[in-house]
Amino acid sequence: MTVEKCTNTPSKLPGRFLWGAATAAFQIEGAATEDGRGPSIWDVFLTQPGTTQQGDTGAVTCDHYHRWREDIELMRRLNLQSYRFSIGWPRVVPAGSGPHNESGWSFYERLVDALLAAGIEPFITLYHWDLPAALQARLGGWANPEIAFIFADYAEAAFRRLGDRVRLWATLNEPWVVVNAGYFEGVHPPGLRDRRLGFLVAHNLLRAHAHAVACFRAICPGGSIGLVLNGGYAFPAADTTEDAAAAERAMVAQLGWFGDPACLGGYPALLRERLGAVLPELSSEDIALLKHPVDFIGLNYYFSEIVRHAPGRTPLEFEVVPQPHRPHTAMGWPVTPEGFSPLLRWLSRRYAGVPIYVTENGAAFDDHPDKSGYVYDPQRVAYLREHIAGVQEAGAEGVDVRGYFVWSLLDNLEWTHGFSKRFGIVRCDFETLRRTIKASGHWYARLIADGGRVAVTPSDLAARRQREG
Ligand code: GCO
Repeated sequence: MTVEKCTNTPSKLPGRFLWGAATAAFQIEGAATEDGRGPSIWDVFLTQPGTTQQGDTGAVTCDHYHRWREDIELMRRLNLQSYRFSIGWPRVVPAGSGPHNESGWSFYERLVDALLAAGIEPFITLYHWDLPAALQARLGGWANPEIAFIFADYAEAAFRRLGDRVRLWATLNEPWVVVNAGYFEGVHPPGLRDRRLGFLVAHNLLRAHAHAVACFRAICPGGSIGLVLNGGYAFPAADTTEDAAAAERAMVAQLGWFGDPACLGGYPALLRERLGAVLPELSSEDIALLKHPVDFIGLNYYFSEIVRHAPGRTPLEFEVVPQPHRPHTAMGWPVTPEGFSPLLRWLSRRYAGVPIYVTENGAAFDDHPDKSGYVYDPQRVAYLREHIAGVQEAGAEGVDVRGYFVWSLLDNLEWTHGFSKRFGIVRCDFETLRRTIKASGHWYARLIADGGRVAVTPSDLAARRQREG
């Protein structure tokens, strides 16, 4: 890999908290076979019968590929300061490696330039799950150690094309989900259930991340790059040392599995002790690469869990206790804003000195549009308000949290749930593709205009205490 520095210096933005919204290429772009885009593993997976209940695919989704100007105008109306989106790897390198697709790269260049012209800071994720299908078919995808170099080549091209204008980058989105859903549970592509292979895939994801970070350091010295983790806080089921230790193990197993190598240079000792040989060894080259830690951690937070000690069940000996008394979102996830600030504190203790961006937070609810398409969604407003209050609580306690991105800008293709789960603060009518800002979008726009102040009422706090208790 040859490396030259960017000729332009990255834009110097004031060190202020960024309010934004997030999306991912496969979930919003559509135009799946247009202008030279290659298929991704998700295109292949969703066209297999039965993978989504309604047979929804990524063919059109929100048609953002054609409507991006309108979408930037929406972002402006929402007062967004930053927009997190992903580059569709198969749009820019249709077969994953080999020839690049100029139309794909110029799409992202136009998008970035228009965002900057609108005063919105772009935040790019390089891998939000849409692996080029050819890499899966030809090489076995993330299971092949070569993938780390192939990913770094793609990342290098992205840094060269866009690194002069884009300051914020994430390598991988939620590697934990890539492994768990794709290789342990078999519910995401490639649809396998193979524990040993899953740990190898995790390892290759981390190696790919490390190679991309090293390349970024050489090409874009003024930029910031991180890894996006997902997880919640684990509350001990009972006030016992066993449950407290089990809760800690649950967090280390999920967040530390990827967070420790990216920030501390190696796997958590707990995983080594409990998992033994199934956890691959990092080579001396990998360790040397991981010595360049990330500039920030991205955190996707949706909900927290209650965990108890479960001796002998699994190597990590914990189990999740259901929370049936809680309100749940349309995804069936409990609403647990009280876990947000403890989680942020946990991360900032474990990875001291590493800033955090909340790269996703939001909720799917069953929206009921009126005749004009307007959605009054007080549940989503309440969800966002309570969660943002949690972020502010952590910030006030000294956690270095630098931004918050709502998931999601638009209703979109929620992976195997298809279009049935709506996370947007803007409604997308999937028949007409018309966009309408929801009440939550108007609320969020006001919050940003007000400098992000969230009024937390005494009744919010009482409700929170009740849940905590
Ligand atoms: C993820 C992804 C998003 C999802 C969102 C809601 O976390 O799964 O980053 O693509 O759509 O989280 O499930």
